[in-house]
Amino acid sequence: MSKYFNDSPIETAEDDQYGISPFSKALAISLLGIVNPIGTVIAINGAWGSGKSSAVNLIRAELDSHKDESYASSISNAGGIGGRRLSPSRFCRSCTAL
Ligand SMILES: Nc1ncnc2c1ncn2[C@@H]1O[C@H](COP(=O)(O)OP(=O)(O)O)[C@@H](O)[C@H]1O
Ligand SMILES: [Mg+2]
Repeated sequence: MSKYFNDSPIETAEDDQYGISPFSKALAISLLGIVNPIGTVIAINGAWGSGKSSAVNLIRAELDSHKDESYASSISNAGGIGGRRLSPSRFCRSCTAL
């Protein structure tokens, strides 16, 4: 085995070594519980490398497992680069581009 590791975000709960699966599942279930959603935006804020994209992947996987319940979701990985925050206007542009 290589002594180097891939730095990609995790994709599934089986890869979760830091116990974020319950958080991701709870957030997905609370999103699914919104009654008559018109448009809901949530942000996951954290330092670079803290596991935001991994959490988003687990949330998306949980949402996908409920696809039969007729919902639509768009997930935008709108993080800044190198710790710089993405401005609200750039974030909104990335949302409307979805
Ligand atoms: N729950 C987790 N279990 C195992 N590895 C994780 C977990 N969360 C993050 N990592 C690893 O940490 C690194 C940074 O995670 P990432 O989700 O890309 O962070 P961010 O999006 O906040 O920059 C990646 O190598 C990823 O695989
Ligand atoms: Mg990321």
